[in-house]
Amino acid sequence: MRILVTGGAGFIGTHVVHGLLDRGHEVAILDSLRPDVHRGPTDWRRPRDVAFHRIDVRDGAALDAALQGREAVIHLAAKVGLGVDLSDMPDYASTNDVGTTELLAAMARVGVGRLTLASSMVVYGEGEALCPEHGAVRPAPRLEAALARGDYEPPCPHCGRPLAPRLVDEATPFDPRNAYATSKAVQEYYAANWARATGGSVAAMRYHNVYGPGLPKDTPYAGVAAIFLSALRRGAAPTVYEDGGQRRDFVHVRDVAAATIRAAERHVEGVRAFNVGSGTPRTVGDMAVALAQATGGPEPVVSGRWRLGDVRHITADSSRLHRELDWRPAVAFDDGMAELSRVA
Ligand code: UD1
Repeated sequence: MRILVTGGAGFIGTHVVHGLLDRGHEVAILDSLRPDVHRGPTDWRRPRDVAFHRIDVRDGAALDAALQGREAVIHLAAKVGLGVDLSDMPDYASTNDVGTTELLAAMARVGVGRLTLASSMVVYGEGEALCPEHGAVRPAPRLEAALARGDYEPPCPHCGRPLAPRLVDEATPFDPRNAYATSKAVQEYYAANWARATGGSVAAMRYHNVYGPGLPKDTPYAGVAAIFLSALRRGAAPTVYEDGGQRRDFVHVRDVAAATIRAAERHVEGVRAFNVGSGTPRTVGDMAVALAQATGGPEPVVSGRWRLGDVRHITADSSRLHRELDWRPAVAFDDGMAELSRVA
């Protein structure tokens, strides 16, 4: 297929582009090489046999030329992470949401009808959990005063009791709890509006915590694995927030790229969301220990610090991706962490 990958010079994009080329697709990349992600023109090398459009995805007028002759788009260009503070909010809205609407409008103009969209598990917020009395509930937001007291678990919204974990599936309602999460939820809504109006197809890939070679480091938007790795490389202990019991699903970037490509190749009708995780939740504390061991660095420090925008647990059921697109993760957690310590 002739595929345009937006954000194709980024962390996930680089792996997607190589995966597509390996499978014989004709690939073009659209990327602005934004300076808060790319440290200059030298930190990314354009793969051979790939057209490159250095375009900001918000530049509607420039998008048409990049879309000419394309059969499908994989839209990865976005601002990620929790951000520095609220001053980042307009940029999340602009880059992720205005950018997506410009892309969708251009796809409608040019007549490109297949979209694979990078969404996120954070659209579910705290997801769902089990109360011993009230069954499956949506956890209440964590209050600043509770976090300051060290009460990290989100309580039952009805009785305030602690909740047991539960894997969320794709039907779980959205409950975005920070600007990035909101921007990802809104991207999905716009994409669905576009699909309805044009008859196009959308696969919304709700990625878990992606790690692996090339992960963004030393920026305010880096994820926890990159932050821990940078600390360990400096000889410092990783600082684990809260009590380290936050559960995440760390999924390897090659597995994420394979899932994304599978969706781009196979999903041709309607709007469908897919959770993309390894299926094995870990705690942030466990991940810190695994990385410290793999690098031979100092033991992690559990700090009790916290960030208001963080959700406590994000763990989802990725079985739809197995069932409908025949995808399985291939990289085991320990192998992925060991590789990260060597090459990332
Ligand atoms: C991450 C991604 C987000 C993605 C989501 C999907 C980043 C920055 N965020 O969000 O783009 O959509 O996964 O699930 O890549 N922590 C520490 N110590 C630190 C920093 C963080 O313990 O120094 C903890 C945080 O308190 C949090 C956890 O690590 O509980 C994960 O944080 P982080 O990787 O920043 O973001 P996610 O919310 O998981």
